Amino acid sequence: MTPHFKIYFKILFPSHLALRISTIKYTPLLNLAILISGRGSNMEAILSAIKQGTIKNIIPSIVISDKPAAAGLKIASEKFCVPTNSLTNYGSRGWEYDQKLVQILEEYGVNKSAGVICLAGFMRVLSREVVRKYKMRIMNIHPALLPSFPGLRAQKQALDYGVKVSGCTVHFVDEGIDTGPILLQRTVPVFESDTEELLAERILQVEHELYPEALGLFSKGNIRIEGRKVSILHCGREDTK
Ligand code: GRF
Repeated sequence: MTPHFKIYFKILFPSHLALRISTIKYTPLLNLAILISGRGSNMEAILSAIKQGTIKNIIPSIVISDKPAAAGLKIASEKFCVPTNSLTNYGSRGWEYDQKLVQILEEYGVNKSAGVICLAGFMRVLSREVVRKYKMRIMNIHPALLPSFPGLRAQKQALDYGVKVSGCTVHFVDEGIDTGPILLQRTVPVFESDTEELLAERILQVEHELYPEALGLFSKGNIRIEGRKVSILHCGREDTK
């Protein structure tokens, strides 16, 4: 915890509230890790936004996949010159794999004081140890309006349920599946003629805007998390310069 953070925290919050309310002020440069398992189109949207300068104060430090054949790995290294690593076969789930993951993250400066992690189609559930270590520093994008339709095939779940509107959610990762505090959501219409693929494609286009936007807000450093509620304070580091 930086001294700046400590002072800010003490003034704003009495100690008995400290566990329930936190205002996140991050260090100027954040090291970003993106975790993928497949095509990596959300990863690409984030890396493009960083390259174009839409997202500032973030260094894309490492892209990690649990699948060596993930198309996103090639995009990260060839199009964006970002280091990549495929981390497979360290046990199917849990702390054994995640210990190795943490080791790589730390090597690239993605730590609990200067790191941020974006899950972008990463098909593993992170262990509670990792989630606790990087508390409110891991984000995920989900192709539905949470808390509706968590888990796999969210678009199919939405269609089967008969909703008229769906969308996507960027949330912080907690110990549940798609249950963490919500940072941003955006809607898309659902049409009677929709198939799972058509709806997924419509949502994906919006995901590519929403995830970079969420990361950009996070990087400005003024996010207040109160219980489940995430507020964006409109006096970010850049605004106060
Ligand atoms: C996206 O639909 C995302 O919402 C979900 O997994 C998919 C990943 O797609 N978590 P991509 O690899 O980013 O193209």
